[in-house]
Amino acid sequence: MSQPLLVQDQDDAFAEAVREGLNLPQKVIPARFFYDQAGSELFEAITELPEYYPTRAEIEILNARAGTIADHVGEGRSVIEFGSGSSLKTPLLLRAIAPASYVPVDISAEFLQSSASALSRQFPDLPVLPVAADFTRPFRIPASLAGQPRLGFFPGSTLGNLAPMGAIDLLRSFATTLGKQSWLLIGLDLAKDRETLEAAYDDAQGVTAAFNLNLLHRINRELGGTVRIEDFRHRAIWNEALGRIEMHLVAVRDTHFEAGGRGFRFAAGEHIHTENSYKWTRAEARLMARASGWMPVTDWTDSAGRFALHLWSCEPDSPQP
Ligand code: AVJ
Repeated sequence: MSQPLLVQDQDDAFAEAVREGLNLPQKVIPARFFYDQAGSELFEAITELPEYYPTRAEIEILNARAGTIADHVGEGRSVIEFGSGSSLKTPLLLRAIAPASYVPVDISAEFLQSSASALSRQFPDLPVLPVAADFTRPFRIPASLAGQPRLGFFPGSTLGNLAPMGAIDLLRSFATTLGKQSWLLIGLDLAKDRETLEAAYDDAQGVTAAFNLNLLHRINRELGGTVRIEDFRHRAIWNEALGRIEMHLVAVRDTHFEAGGRGFRFAAGEHIHTENSYKWTRAEARLMARASGWMPVTDWTDSAGRFALHLWSCEPDSPQP
């Protein structure tokens, strides 16, 4: 019953984002619009590419450090995952720490249902309490978890889509939601050499290019668009000063299209900025923790030193000198 409404809302949001974003002096479409059905499948394929190291690196860390993580956080925790859960990473964590309950939080109720029931089949004795909420705002944790100490889990360097101030706002709201004496286990990609980074976001098979160009296909599919896809190409560049990979869709010639009843014009070389993926050194990540009310406890990297998993704690306020 509520499903058609949800889909309608999302169409409207995309139409509005395209209408507004393509009228700005620097054209932009927010990265959250990558993830329609086709885009979600392309992202899955990205995580298996030889050049895209983050997923494999984070799984390696979880495999190697699960016991150490358990020693730090102890048993009987309620694990609150921001996002509906990865079929590979979440079981690694849950198996290691013997949690009292598991709470995946995701804005997509549908996604949440299917991943939560898959997890319940794997962990039949674990209470799984999915919450359909926008985790970028503080939300209420199910009342039945009162008294269970909490561990937030935010893998995948998902935080990387947010610019520094937005990232810190989000981390502060996690602290509010999880409360004092909680922990946060967060995966953050490391800054590194340009070659490795640009290859990870512009792979030889062109899967990341297809993921980026899917935004233009979405415009044609959902907004009655007339985009000539071949007039655009994928570009990924490491912006070293700002510490982020940027993805763009670049017009290769003068072109124009209609979408949602409006016209949009591009000069050759003009581009749509579609994603930022921030990368942090270990020290930058610790500073970000401190700036958002968290205490860095420890962090681990994979054997190639490409990706970091950080453990932070939220301490009660203590008097400062
Ligand atoms: C899902 C935001 C973590 O930034 O690496 C992968 C998305 N974009 N390849 C990332 C992405 C292009 C991914 N995050």
